[in-house]
Amino acid sequence: MTPEDVPVTAGLARTVFSAPGEAASAEDVRRGEARQAHLLATDPEGAWVALDEAGEVCGVALAIRREGVWGLSLLAVRPDVQSRGIGRRLLERAWAYGEGARGRIVLSSTDPKAMRRYARLGLAVRPCVAAGGIVDRSRLPAPSGAVRASEDVERTAPVSRHVRGAAHVADLPAMLDAGGRLLLHGDRGFAVHDERAVRLLAARDEAAAVDLLWACLAAAAPGATVAVDFLAAGQDWAVRTVLDAGLALSPDGPVFTGGRLGTLAPYVPSGPYL
Ligand SMILES: CC(C)(COP(=O)(O)OP(=O)(O)OC[C@H]1O[C@@H](n2cnc3c(N)ncnc32)[C@H](O)[C@@H]1OP(=O)(O)O)[C@@H](O)C(=O)NCCC(=O)NCCS
Repeated sequence: MTPEDVPVTAGLARTVFSAPGEAASAEDVRRGEARQAHLLATDPEGAWVALDEAGEVCGVALAIRREGVWGLSLLAVRPDVQSRGIGRRLLERAWAYGEGARGRIVLSSTDPKAMRRYARLGLAVRPCVAAGGIVDRSRLPAPSGAVRASEDVERTAPVSRHVRGAAHVADLPAMLDAGGRLLLHGDRGFAVHDERAVRLLAARDEAAAVDLLWACLAAAAPGATVAVDFLAAGQDWAVRTVLDAGLALSPDGPVFTGGRLGTLAPYVPSGPYL
């Protein structure tokens, strides 16, 4: 993949992940392209495209390596050429980029083709639910004084290493550029959120994680729909909190993991940055 591919690959990601008829705003397009450009810059050897017979880009895989942990950020094939082995071959290239990695993480969609391939890689499946809806503001607890807005991304590193097995520091500036806001719970945990979603949350203990999740939910615009995705088995602290906030649960794609990672809890992983 090269920087010139980004407008096409970002369009491809929008095509396969948007609901039918859903139009992306100019800001969504900008953020999607910026995210892929960032990942291509940090991990050029993990970024692959497939070309169709006309030489047009018809598939993309983006993988990252952070402190010995490999993660799949994106895998997408144009709908008219799916189920022909292109995704499989893209994934092989992206996987090879993780050669020697101590741990592996993939946040899967519910596409049976994707889940089949990730399981076949020998990764373990962790079923997930997603939460969504409008926060019932009458149920918000008094804000925790321990949660503060911050731009000190370095301070998150020990928590990420404990929870994920690798720091998020390399990707946090890109998340903040895309409109994310960082919250710190001292040295016990952190979260990145925006008005639409909890983008990432990691903590050393559940009490801190609950405080952070409430702070993210409290920051949602009144009446706006918010999402908290990839709540894997074991994140019952989060399930309790989102239900208390009035959100609804639905099935989500599973998380696949392998090798040596962190505690993986309390943890709400980031879709693109894991
Ligand atoms: C998931 C995706 C990347 C797979 O790429 P693809 O080129 O369509 O898939 P492939 O042809 O390589 O097939 C992958 C596997 O699924 C199997 N498969 C193909 N069609 C299938 C179907 N309709 N149902 C179930 N399995 C199917 C294949 O046999 C193959 O398994 P195998 O290699 O063990 O035989 C692609 O379909 C896609 O972009 N989906 C939408 C976006 C998405 O969900 N991406 C994954 C994000 S985590």
